[in-house]
Amino acid sequence: MEELISIQEAAREFGVKADRLRRAAWEGRLEARQVGNMWMVLPSRVTQFLREGDKRRTKGISAMPTPLRPGEPGSAVEAQGGSKTEMARIIAIAVPKGGTGKTTTTVNLGAALAEAGKRVLLVDFDPQGNLTQSLGFRPADLEHTIYSSLKYFLTRFESQIELAIQKTDEGMDLVPASARLNLANDELAIAIQREFVLEKLLAPVANNYDYILIDTLPYLGVLVVNALVAAKEILIPLQAEYLATESVSLILEQVQLMRRSGLNPQLSITGILLTMVDSRTIINREAVEYARKFFGKDLKVFDTMVKRSVRFAESQANHLSIMQYEPNGESARAYRALAKEVMASHVTSKA
Ligand SMILES: Nc1ncnc2c1ncn2[C@@H]1O[C@H](COP(=O)(O)OP(=O)(O)OP(=O)(O)O)[C@@H](O)[C@H]1O
Ligand SMILES: [Mg+2]
Repeated sequence: MEELISIQEAAREFGVKADRLRRAAWEGRLEARQVGNMWMVLPSRVTQFLREGDKRRTKGISAMPTPLRPGEPGSAVEAQGGSKTEMARIIAIAVPKGGTGKTTTTVNLGAALAEAGKRVLLVDFDPQGNLTQSLGFRPADLEHTIYSSLKYFLTRFESQIELAIQKTDEGMDLVPASARLNLANDELAIAIQREFVLEKLLAPVANNYDYILIDTLPYLGVLVVNALVAAKEILIPLQAEYLATESVSLILEQVQLMRRSGLNPQLSITGILLTMVDSRTIINREAVEYARKFFGKDLKVFDTMVKRSVRFAESQANHLSIMQYEPNGESARAYRALAKEVMASHVTSKA
Protein backbone atom coordinates (compact mmCIF):
# COMPACT_ATOMS: atom_id res chain seq x y z
CA MET A 1 0.00 0.00 0.00
CA GLU A 2 1.24 3.43 -0.92
CA GLU A 3 2.47 5.55 1.96
CA LEU A 4 1.95 9.22 2.64
CA ILE A 5 5.05 11.40 2.41
CA SER A 6 5.60 14.99 3.43
CA ILE A 7 5.42 17.82 0.92
CA GLN A 8 9.17 18.41 1.43
CA GLU A 9 9.96 14.80 0.57
CA ALA A 10 7.63 14.95 -2.44
CA ALA A 11 9.27 18.18 -3.61
CA ARG A 12 12.72 16.55 -3.37
CA GLU A 13 11.59 13.36 -5.07
CA PHE A 14 9.82 15.08 -7.95
CA GLY A 15 12.29 17.97 -8.29
CA VAL A 16 9.70 20.73 -7.80
CA LYS A 17 9.38 23.55 -5.30
CA ALA A 18 7.70 22.60 -2.01
CA ASP A 19 5.82 25.91 -2.07
CA ARG A 20 4.12 24.98 -5.33
CA LEU A 21 2.87 21.71 -3.86
CA ARG A 22 1.87 23.34 -0.58
CA ARG A 23 -0.18 25.99 -2.34
CA ALA A 24 -1.84 23.38 -4.56
CA ALA A 25 -2.71 21.33 -1.47
CA TRP A 26 -4.19 24.36 0.29
CA GLU A 27 -6.21 25.32 -2.78
CA GLY A 28 -7.55 21.80 -3.21
CA ARG A 29 -5.74 21.13 -6.51
CA LEU A 30 -3.54 18.45 -4.98
CA GLU A 31 -5.15 15.89 -2.69
CA ALA A 32 -3.37 16.06 0.65
CA ARG A 33 -3.89 15.62 4.38
CA GLN A 34 -2.84 18.09 7.00
CA VAL A 35 -1.11 16.47 9.97
CA GLY A 36 -0.41 19.12 12.59
CA ASN A 37 1.11 21.87 10.46
CA MET A 38 2.52 19.45 7.86
CA TRP A 39 0.94 18.49 4.57
CA MET A 40 1.14 14.80 3.63
CA VAL A 41 0.59 13.49 0.10
CA LEU A 42 0.56 10.23 -1.81
CA PRO A 43 3.32 10.12 -4.47
CA SER A 44 0.80 8.88 -7.07
CA ARG A 45 -1.32 12.01 -6.48
CA VAL A 46 1.73 14.21 -6.96
CA THR A 47 2.48 12.42 -10.23
CA GLN A 48 -1.12 12.93 -11.33
CA PHE A 49 -1.06 16.59 -10.29
CA LEU A 50 2.19 17.25 -12.19
CA ARG A 51 1.00 15.31 -15.26
CA GLU A 52 -2.38 17.00 -15.47
CA GLY A 53 -1.06 20.44 -14.78
CA ASP A 54 -1.71 22.96 -12.05
CA LYS A 55 -5.02 24.12 -13.45
CA ARG A 56 -6.89 20.84 -13.26
CA ARG A 57 -8.30 19.58 -10.04
CA THR A 58 -7.39 16.07 -9.00
CA LYS A 59 -10.15 13.51 -9.50
CA GLY A 60 -10.45 12.50 -5.86
CA ILE A 61 -10.92 16.01 -4.69
CA SER A 62 -12.97 17.41 -7.54
CA ALA A 63 -16.16 17.78 -5.56
CA MET A 64 -14.49 19.72 -2.78
CA PRO A 65 -15.55 23.34 -2.99
CA THR A 66 -12.71 25.80 -3.34
CA PRO A 67 -11.75 26.65 0.22
CA LEU A 68 -13.99 29.59 0.91
CA ARG A 69 -13.36 31.88 3.81
CA PRO A 70 -16.48 33.19 5.49
CA GLY A 71 -17.29 36.52 3.94
CA GLU A 72 -15.84 35.63 0.56
CA PRO A 73 -18.27 35.67 -2.35
CA GLY A 74 -20.26 32.46 -2.30
CA SER A 75 -19.57 31.53 1.31
CA ALA A 76 -22.45 30.94 3.70
CA VAL A 77 -21.67 34.16 5.48
CA GLU A 78 -21.65 36.17 2.30
CA ALA A 79 -25.06 34.75 1.54
CA GLN A 80 -26.37 36.19 4.80
CA GLY A 81 -26.18 39.75 3.62
CA GLY A 82 -26.11 38.98 -0.08
CA SER A 83 -28.69 38.02 -2.60
CA LYS A 84 -29.16 34.40 -1.50
CA THR A 85 -31.81 35.32 1.06
CA GLU A 86 -33.51 31.97 0.61
CA MET A 87 -30.73 30.30 2.56
CA ALA A 88 -31.47 29.06 6.04
CA ARG A 89 -30.77 31.03 9.17
CA ILE A 90 -28.29 28.72 10.81
CA ILE A 91 -28.29 29.04 14.60
CA ALA A 92 -25.97 27.16 16.96
CA ILE A 93 -27.44 26.56 20.40
CA ALA A 94 -24.33 26.74 22.52
CA VAL A 95 -22.76 27.43 25.88
CA PRO A 96 -19.86 25.53 27.44
CA LYS A 97 -21.81 24.33 30.45
CA GLY A 98 -23.73 21.11 30.93
CA GLY A 99 -27.46 20.83 31.44
CA THR A 100 -28.45 24.43 30.70
CA GLY A 101 -31.31 23.56 28.33
CA LYS A 102 -29.51 23.51 24.96
CA THR A 103 -31.14 20.32 23.70
CA THR A 104 -34.55 21.24 25.15
CA THR A 105 -34.34 24.61 23.42
CA THR A 106 -33.21 23.09 20.11
CA VAL A 107 -36.13 20.68 19.96
CA ASN A 108 -38.81 23.06 21.23
CA LEU A 109 -37.71 26.18 19.38
CA GLY A 110 -37.50 23.97 16.28
CA ALA A 111 -41.00 22.61 16.87
CA ALA A 112 -42.38 26.10 17.45
CA LEU A 113 -40.78 27.37 14.24
CA ALA A 114 -42.18 24.36 12.35
CA GLU A 115 -45.61 25.06 13.83
CA ALA A 116 -45.29 28.61 12.48
CA GLY A 117 -44.86 27.13 9.01
CA LYS A 118 -41.08 27.31 8.78
CA ARG A 119 -38.97 24.58 7.21
CA VAL A 120 -36.70 23.40 10.01
CA LEU A 121 -33.68 21.11 10.18
CA LEU A 122 -32.24 20.13 13.57
CA VAL A 123 -28.65 18.95 13.67
CA ASP A 124 -27.51 16.85 16.61
CA PHE A 125 -23.83 17.75 16.93
CA ASP A 126 -23.39 16.30 20.40
CA PRO A 127 -22.06 12.74 20.83
CA GLN A 128 -24.46 12.34 23.77
CA GLY A 129 -27.21 12.11 21.12
CA ASN A 130 -29.82 13.59 23.47
CA LEU A 131 -31.58 15.48 20.68
CA THR A 132 -31.74 12.30 18.60
CA GLN A 133 -33.17 10.33 21.51
CA SER A 134 -35.63 13.01 22.51
CA LEU A 135 -37.15 12.72 19.02
CA GLY A 136 -37.56 8.97 19.39
CA PHE A 137 -34.54 7.62 17.50
CA ARG A 138 -32.10 5.08 18.96
CA PRO A 139 -28.66 6.38 17.97
CA ALA A 140 -27.04 2.94 17.91
CA ASP A 141 -29.60 1.67 15.36
CA LEU A 142 -28.89 4.37 12.80
CA GLU A 143 -26.67 3.61 9.83
CA HIS A 144 -26.40 7.22 8.70
CA THR A 145 -25.66 9.95 11.22
CA ILE A 146 -23.79 13.23 11.32
CA TYR A 147 -20.67 11.15 12.04
CA SER A 148 -21.00 8.93 8.96
CA SER A 149 -21.55 12.06 6.85
CA LEU A 150 -18.50 13.68 8.38
CA LYS A 151 -16.38 10.55 7.86
CA TYR A 152 -17.46 10.32 4.22
CA PHE A 153 -16.63 13.98 3.73
CA LEU A 154 -13.15 13.56 5.22
CA THR A 155 -12.28 10.83 2.73
CA ARG A 156 -14.15 12.03 -0.38
CA PHE A 157 -14.64 15.76 0.16
CA GLU A 158 -18.27 15.40 -0.84
CA SER A 159 -21.29 16.01 1.35
CA GLN A 160 -23.72 13.13 1.59
CA ILE A 161 -25.65 14.68 4.47
CA GLU A 162 -28.99 14.05 2.77
CA LEU A 163 -28.55 10.32 3.49
CA ALA A 164 -28.58 11.07 7.21
CA ILE A 165 -31.64 13.36 7.24
CA GLN A 166 -34.60 11.82 9.04
CA LYS A 167 -38.18 13.06 8.93
CA THR A 168 -39.77 13.44 12.36
CA ASP A 169 -43.40 13.46 13.46
CA GLU A 170 -42.93 17.07 14.53
CA GLY A 171 -42.85 18.47 10.99
CA MET A 172 -39.13 19.10 11.12
CA ASP A 173 -36.12 17.14 9.90
CA LEU A 174 -33.24 15.80 11.97
CA VAL A 175 -29.63 14.90 11.33
CA PRO A 176 -29.07 12.45 14.19
CA ALA A 177 -25.91 11.75 16.17
CA SER A 178 -24.55 8.75 18.01
CA ALA A 179 -21.69 8.23 20.43
CA ARG A 180 -19.45 7.61 17.42
CA LEU A 181 -19.29 11.37 16.96
CA ASN A 182 -16.72 11.23 19.78
CA LEU A 183 -14.30 9.77 17.23
CA ALA A 184 -14.56 12.94 15.16
CA ASN A 185 -12.49 14.86 17.70
CA ASP A 186 -9.33 12.99 16.73
CA GLU A 187 -10.25 12.63 13.08
CA LEU A 188 -10.94 16.33 12.64
CA ALA A 189 -7.67 17.17 14.37
CA ILE A 190 -5.72 15.97 11.33
CA ALA A 191 -8.25 16.93 8.66
CA ILE A 192 -7.80 19.49 5.93
CA GLN A 193 -9.74 22.64 6.81
CA ARG A 194 -11.01 20.98 9.95
CA GLU A 195 -13.05 23.97 11.13
CA PHE A 196 -15.12 24.11 7.92
CA VAL A 197 -16.34 20.53 7.71
CA LEU A 198 -19.84 21.05 9.18
CA GLU A 199 -20.34 24.19 7.09
CA LYS A 200 -19.49 22.25 3.95
CA LEU A 201 -21.65 19.31 4.98
CA LEU A 202 -24.69 21.55 5.41
CA ALA A 203 -24.13 23.74 2.36
CA PRO A 204 -25.97 21.52 -0.17
CA VAL A 205 -29.16 21.36 1.94
CA ALA A 206 -29.16 24.90 3.38
CA ASN A 207 -31.49 26.12 0.63
CA ASN A 208 -34.11 23.55 1.60
CA TYR A 209 -34.75 25.07 5.03
CA ASP A 210 -35.67 28.37 6.66
CA TYR A 211 -33.96 27.48 9.94
CA ILE A 212 -31.17 25.08 10.78
CA LEU A 213 -30.62 24.67 14.53
CA ILE A 214 -27.41 22.98 15.68
CA ASP A 215 -27.41 21.40 19.14
CA THR A 216 -23.90 21.41 20.59
CA LEU A 217 -22.02 19.72 23.40
CA PRO A 218 -21.13 21.52 26.61
CA TYR A 219 -17.36 21.75 25.99
CA LEU A 220 -15.41 24.05 23.72
CA GLY A 221 -13.38 22.16 21.14
CA VAL A 222 -13.21 21.29 17.47
CA LEU A 223 -16.87 20.20 17.28
CA VAL A 224 -18.21 23.45 18.77
CA VAL A 225 -15.81 25.46 16.57
CA ASN A 226 -17.28 23.62 13.55
CA ALA A 227 -20.77 24.55 14.73
CA LEU A 228 -19.74 28.19 15.18
CA VAL A 229 -18.24 28.30 11.68
CA ALA A 230 -21.32 26.69 10.10
CA ALA A 231 -23.70 28.96 12.02
CA LYS A 232 -24.49 32.57 11.35
CA GLU A 233 -25.82 33.08 14.84
CA ILE A 234 -25.55 31.68 18.31
CA LEU A 235 -28.34 31.37 20.87
CA ILE A 236 -27.31 30.87 24.50
CA PRO A 237 -29.77 29.10 26.84
CA LEU A 238 -28.84 29.51 30.47
CA GLN A 239 -30.20 29.39 33.97
CA ALA A 240 -30.33 32.85 35.47
CA GLU A 241 -27.94 31.96 38.27
CA TYR A 242 -25.15 31.17 35.78
CA LEU A 243 -25.27 34.52 34.02
CA ALA A 244 -22.42 35.99 36.01
CA THR A 245 -20.24 32.89 35.65
CA GLU A 246 -17.28 32.00 33.49
CA SER A 247 -19.42 30.01 31.06
CA VAL A 248 -20.88 33.23 29.67
CA SER A 249 -17.49 34.96 29.46
CA LEU A 250 -16.07 31.88 27.77
CA ILE A 251 -18.71 31.72 25.05
CA LEU A 252 -18.54 35.48 24.45
CA GLU A 253 -14.75 35.24 24.17
CA GLN A 254 -15.16 32.33 21.76
CA VAL A 255 -17.49 34.43 19.58
CA GLN A 256 -14.87 37.22 19.54
CA LEU A 257 -12.22 34.68 18.61
CA MET A 258 -14.33 33.33 15.76
CA ARG A 259 -14.70 36.87 14.42
CA ARG A 260 -11.12 38.04 14.91
CA SER A 261 -9.54 34.86 13.58
CA GLY A 262 -11.53 35.22 10.37
CA LEU A 263 -13.14 31.82 10.91
CA ASN A 264 -16.54 33.52 11.07
CA PRO A 265 -16.24 37.33 11.00
CA GLN A 266 -20.01 37.82 10.85
CA LEU A 267 -21.01 35.50 13.69
CA SER A 268 -23.81 37.16 15.63
CA ILE A 269 -25.44 36.51 18.96
CA THR A 270 -29.18 36.01 18.56
CA GLY A 271 -29.57 36.33 22.31
CA ILE A 272 -29.47 34.82 25.75
CA LEU A 273 -32.50 32.76 26.72
CA LEU A 274 -33.17 32.42 30.42
CA THR A 275 -34.36 28.88 31.08
CA MET A 276 -35.54 26.92 34.10
CA VAL A 277 -36.54 30.22 35.66
CA ASP A 278 -38.17 29.99 39.04
CA SER A 279 -39.78 33.40 39.36
CA ARG A 280 -40.59 32.89 43.03
CA THR A 281 -36.99 32.85 44.16
CA ILE A 282 -35.11 36.06 44.80
CA ILE A 283 -31.89 34.77 43.30
CA ASN A 284 -33.60 34.38 39.94
CA ARG A 285 -35.26 37.77 40.03
CA GLU A 286 -31.95 39.42 40.88
CA ALA A 287 -30.10 37.51 38.20
CA VAL A 288 -32.66 38.45 35.55
CA GLU A 289 -32.39 42.12 36.51
CA TYR A 290 -28.62 41.83 36.52
CA ALA A 291 -28.63 40.23 33.07
CA ARG A 292 -30.78 42.93 31.56
CA LYS A 293 -28.67 45.66 33.12
CA PHE A 294 -25.32 44.06 32.41
CA PHE A 295 -25.85 42.73 28.89
CA GLY A 296 -28.90 44.81 27.96
CA LYS A 297 -27.23 47.37 25.75
CA ASP A 298 -24.90 45.11 23.82
CA LEU A 299 -26.46 41.73 23.97
CA LYS A 300 -30.06 40.71 23.67
CA VAL A 301 -31.64 38.91 26.57
CA PHE A 302 -34.91 37.54 25.16
CA ASP A 303 -38.08 38.92 26.72
CA THR A 304 -39.30 35.34 26.76
CA MET A 305 -38.18 33.33 29.75
CA VAL A 306 -38.80 29.62 30.09
CA LYS A 307 -39.98 28.65 33.52
CA ARG A 308 -38.92 25.52 35.30
CA SER A 309 -41.47 22.79 34.62
CA VAL A 310 -41.55 19.05 35.02
CA ARG A 311 -43.41 18.93 31.69
CA PHE A 312 -40.08 19.17 29.84
CA ALA A 313 -38.71 15.95 31.33
CA GLU A 314 -42.09 14.30 30.72
CA SER A 315 -42.27 15.39 27.09
CA GLN A 316 -38.70 14.17 26.50
CA ALA A 317 -39.50 10.80 28.06
CA ASN A 318 -42.42 10.56 25.63
CA HIS A 319 -40.21 11.53 22.69
CA LEU A 320 -42.34 14.57 21.97
CA SER A 321 -41.75 18.28 21.81
CA ILE A 322 -43.59 20.35 24.38
CA MET A 323 -45.71 21.65 21.49
CA GLN A 324 -47.13 18.15 20.97
CA TYR A 325 -47.05 17.01 24.58
CA GLU A 326 -48.97 19.90 26.07
CA PRO A 327 -49.86 22.30 23.27
CA ASN A 328 -51.79 24.72 25.44
CA GLY A 329 -49.50 24.71 28.44
CA GLU A 330 -47.34 27.57 29.65
CA SER A 331 -44.13 25.88 28.50
CA ALA A 332 -45.36 25.49 24.91
CA ARG A 333 -46.48 29.12 24.94
CA ALA A 334 -43.01 30.18 26.08
CA TYR A 335 -41.26 28.44 23.19
CA ARG A 336 -43.85 29.85 20.75
CA ALA A 337 -43.08 33.32 22.09
CA LEU A 338 -39.34 32.64 21.73
CA ALA A 339 -39.89 31.52 18.12
CA LYS A 340 -41.70 34.81 17.44
CA GLU A 341 -38.82 36.79 18.93
CA VAL A 342 -36.28 34.83 16.91
CA MET A 343 -38.27 35.27 13.70
CA ALA A 344 -38.55 38.98 14.33
CA SER A 345 -34.95 39.46 15.38
CA HIS A 346 -32.61 41.38 13.19
CA VAL A 347 -29.21 40.39 14.34
CA THR A 348 -27.36 43.47 15.44
CA SER A 349 -25.49 42.29 18.51
CA LYS A 350 -21.91 43.49 18.72
CA ALA A 351 -21.08 41.86 22.04
N1 LIG B 1 -37.46 24.79 31.59
C1 LIG B 1 -37.14 23.61 32.16
N2 LIG B 1 -37.70 23.22 33.31
C2 LIG B 1 -37.39 22.06 33.91
N3 LIG B 1 -36.51 21.18 33.38
C3 LIG B 1 -35.90 21.49 32.22
C4 LIG B 1 -36.17 22.73 31.54
N4 LIG B 1 -35.42 22.76 30.41
C5 LIG B 1 -34.72 21.63 30.41
N5 LIG B 1 -34.99 20.86 31.47
C6 LIG B 1 -34.44 19.54 31.85
O1 LIG B 1 -33.09 19.76 32.27
C7 LIG B 1 -32.26 18.71 31.82
C8 LIG B 1 -31.13 19.30 30.99
O2 LIG B 1 -31.69 19.91 29.84
P1 LIG B 1 -31.01 19.75 28.41
O3 LIG B 1 -30.72 18.32 28.12
O4 LIG B 1 -31.84 20.51 27.45
O5 LIG B 1 -29.65 20.53 28.69
P2 LIG B 1 -28.35 20.60 27.76
O6 LIG B 1 -27.78 21.95 27.92
O7 LIG B 1 -28.68 20.14 26.41
O8 LIG B 1 -27.41 19.51 28.47
P3 LIG B 1 -25.98 19.02 27.91
O9 LIG B 1 -25.04 20.15 28.20
O10 LIG B 1 -25.69 17.78 28.69
O11 LIG B 1 -26.14 18.78 26.45
C9 LIG B 1 -33.15 17.75 31.06
O12 LIG B 1 -33.52 16.71 31.91
C10 LIG B 1 -34.37 18.58 30.70
O13 LIG B 1 -35.55 17.81 30.64
MG1 LIG C 1 -27.75 18.66 25.26
